[in-house]
Order: sequence, then structure tokens, then C-alpha cells
Amino acid sequence: MTPARESATPVLHNPPGYRLIEFGQLHSTNAFVLEHIDALAHCDVISAGIQTAGRGRLSRAWVSSQPENAYLSVVLKPPHEQAASLAAVTHFLAVVVCHALEAEGLAPAIKWPNDVQVSGRKVAGILAEARLTGAMLRGMALGLGVNLNLPEAVVAAIDQPATALNLLLGRHIDRGLFLRGLLDRFFGGLDRFLETGFEGVRAGYEQRASFLGRRLTVRQMQVEWTGVARGLDPCGALELECADGTVCRIQAGDLVTERGA
Ligand code: BTN
Repeated sequence: MTPARESATPVLHNPPGYRLIEFGQLHSTNAFVLEHIDALAHCDVISAGIQTAGRGRLSRAWVSSQPENAYLSVVLKPPHEQAASLAAVTHFLAVVVCHALEAEGLAPAIKWPNDVQVSGRKVAGILAEARLTGAMLRGMALGLGVNLNLPEAVVAAIDQPATALNLLLGRHIDRGLFLRGLLDRFFGGLDRFLETGFEGVRAGYEQRASFLGRRLTVRQMQVEWTGVARGLDPCGALELECADGTVCRIQAGDLVTERGA
């Protein structure tokens, strides 16, 4: 489990409920998890000080050159009967991230499907990637990036409105403390979430969902839908009411505009 793109020996932490494996540098924690999926266990966490090829949704890059930020991937290999809940695991993680930011005194909002923003600027992104053999799930990499400590110039160069906790709070953020709080909360709620799926996090998600009731456009590859966000279905998919009154259920995409309904 030691490809050349890793730096040094990883440090292992073993708090109750999960195992945290910290690398100084990785190409991408998600890629690492998918490459080693059979050797890793459910609830392992791979974390990196920096990433050289951090990736985001829709083939975007995730700025990962700065240390003292959160770049991590949780390994998920739930029992077969709970695997359906994974459709909404990004929603669960988005709510957990919001709790961690609220503990710092911030007021985060979720931009569908799972960007976490403060004052309309992105502070955290989530990327879930599955490794399948045929229809069988071998495991999932649930990746999370949180901008904890970024210089203003780095934030300004990001290709979408973004910010970082140190800029919002005017102080350095203790990465270790933040990660510990976030992971304790995530693993403290994971079993219940896997039992309930999206319904177990619906209230926490909707309470922070900045897009509900608003007119918006969602882009998925070459396809675009415009309508009013009426709600979320039992799997967390967006229910968008289009101009002709039909309601589309959209699992994934990019929310490109958000205007008052
Ligand atoms: C997005 O909002 O586009 C998702 C960003 C996800 C970034 C994280 S950083 C840790 C993990 N490893 C990656 O390569 N990507 C995710």
C-alpha cells in the first residue's frame, strides 16, 4: 500500500470508532482510497497534509497546495442492506460540516447538492466516489476538503466564490482540533445515518439549505433544467418544478444560478 506519490510513513491514530491514517502528502486522498479499497477497512480515514492532484466534482481540481487545511477521505464499506443509504451520505457529511462550522461561531448554508458556504462563498466541498465490481459495491471514498487556513491570494485565484475559516474568523484555525471534532461527530452519527438514510438528516439539511423555494438552474453535463426547488425526495435528490408544472428529480449536477423565486 505504498505507491511512489506518497510522502514518508503515514501516522496512525486510533480514536474510538475509526482509524485515522495521516500522510504528509498524497496525490489525492480519494484516489488513494480507490486504489487501495480492498486493503482498507470500513471507517478508515485517509488524510493528507497537502495533495498534488486534489480533485473536485465535475472533473474540477481542488486547490490542495496549502498545508493546515482539511483534505481527507472516509472509507465506507457498509453491510449490503445499508448500502442504499450511501446515496445521501454526502448530505449527511454536509450537515456534519455545518455543525463543525457552527461550533466556530459561523452561520453556514448548504448549496445543493453538498457545497458548504458562508455568506455565499464556498468553504467546503464533498466528493463521493464508489469502486464497483459489476453491480457489487467494493467500497466508497467519501472525500472532504475544508478551507481552514488559506492566504487571501490563493482564495482569490479559485475559479468560484470561495473563502476560508481563517479569513472569516481573523485567526489561525487549529487543524488537528477541527478534524477531531468533525470526525467524532461524523462517526458518532454514522450508524444511525446508515440505518435511516436521508430521512435521518432531512431536518438538519433542509434547515441549512439555501436553495429551497428558489428559482434556479441545474446543469448536468450538456443538459440544463430551470425551475423552482420544491424539495428533496427520500434519497436526497432535488425536486425541481419546471415551467410546465412537471417535477424533475435530479440526483447530481451543478447549481449554476440562484435567483429569488
Ligand atoms: C467539490 O466541491 O468539487 C468537491 C471537492 C472535494 C475535495 C476533497 S479534498 C479530499 C478529497 N480528495 C480529493 O481529491 N478530493 C476530495
